[in-house]
Amino acid sequence: MPTSSPNPYLPFGENKHADWYGKDIISVKQFNRKDLEYIFGVAHEMRGMVERVGTFDLLKGKILANLFYEPSTRTSSSFTAAMERLGGSVIPINEVKYSSVTKGESLSDTIRTLECYADVIVLRHPETGSAAIAAKAAKKPIINAGDGIGEHPTQALLDTFTIMEELGRSSTGTRSGLENLTVTMLGDLKYGRTVHSLARLLSLFDNIKLNYVSPDILKMPKEVMDEVGAGNISQAEYSSLEKVLPETDVLYVTRVQKERFEDPADYEKVKGAYVIEPGMMKTAKQNMIVMHPLPRVTEISMDFDDDPRAAYFRQMEYGLYVRMALLAMVLGKA
Ligand code: NCD
Repeated sequence: MPTSSPNPYLPFGENKHADWYGKDIISVKQFNRKDLEYIFGVAHEMRGMVERVGTFDLLKGKILANLFYEPSTRTSSSFTAAMERLGGSVIPINEVKYSSVTKGESLSDTIRTLECYADVIVLRHPETGSAAIAAKAAKKPIINAGDGIGEHPTQALLDTFTIMEELGRSSTGTRSGLENLTVTMLGDLKYGRTVHSLARLLSLFDNIKLNYVSPDILKMPKEVMDEVGAGNISQAEYSSLEKVLPETDVLYVTRVQKERFEDPADYEKVKGAYVIEPGMMKTAKQNMIVMHPLPRVTEISMDFDDDPRAAYFRQMEYGLYVRMALLAMVLGKA
C-alpha cells in the first residue's frame, strides 16, 4: 500500500553538499556544540530505527574497510554492526599479520589500496597522529578508531551520548543538555586515549567540573589540561577517589594501559591502584552512573555489575547508534 509520508530511511541519493559528506573524523577538536546536537540527533533516530526494524538499507552498496593494527573487540565489531545494520558491507582487516603490512608496506600505501575498494576506512593504529597521516593519503573519509595514546574521537562521542541519554534530562523529562555535572575520570589518564578525547569534548559544555583521579605517574597530560582549561570548565587533580566520589555524577573508570608502559616495573606499581566495589559505592549518589570504555581488567569488581548505576554495558550499545550516525553522515546519507 502506498504511503503518503516518505520514510527518510529508504535509500536516496548521496547528498554531496551535506556538511559531513566526505569528511574525516580524526579528533574531537573538529566538533562544536551544534555538531554534537546534530550527531546525537541522528544517533537517536538510528536507535529508534534499530528498535523498530533492526536493519535497513540506508548504506546499501557501500563498503567499509575496518583496518585494525591493534586489538579491538567493541570498536571493531560495533563499526561492523553499524555498517551492516545500515545495509552496507565490511572488509575486515584485523589480522594485520596476514596483510601486506608484514611485508613492510607503509600506512599510506595500505590506505591508498583500501580506498580503491571501500567508500570509508576506519583505522586503529598504535602511533599518535597516524589517523591524520592516513587522512592526508586518502581521498575517502578516514575515521580514527584510536591512534596510540592520542585520541579516540568516536569513543568520546559515544561516551557523551551515553551521559546525555542517561543523565541529560530534567525532572520533567525534557532534554537539558550537559550542564552542571561533575565528571570524575579515574585510573590511567596519561596513556588512556579515551579520556584525552572525552575531556576535550566535555569542555564544549558549560559548568562541567572535571576531577582527575590517578596515580602520580599516570596524570592527565598538561597539554590536554591546557586545552580543556580554555573552556568554561573547572579541573582538579587528586590521587584518591574517596573525597570526590560523593559529588560525582559520572565516574569514568579506565584500564591501566599495560601495553603503553616503557618500564614493566612501573605497570606493576600502579596496576591495581583503584578498584570499584559495591561497598565503597555507598557514598556515591543514587542517580550517578559508572562508565568504562572497556575492556576492564580488575578496576571494576564484577560484583558491581548488577547495580543500576553500572552503565558500562549500556554505553557499548549507545556506541552502535553513534557509529551508525557517523557512517551515514560521512557517506552523505544523513
Ligand atoms: C579503549 C581503547 O582501545 O582505547 N577501548 C575501546 O575502544 N573501547 C580503552 C582500552 O583499551 O582500555
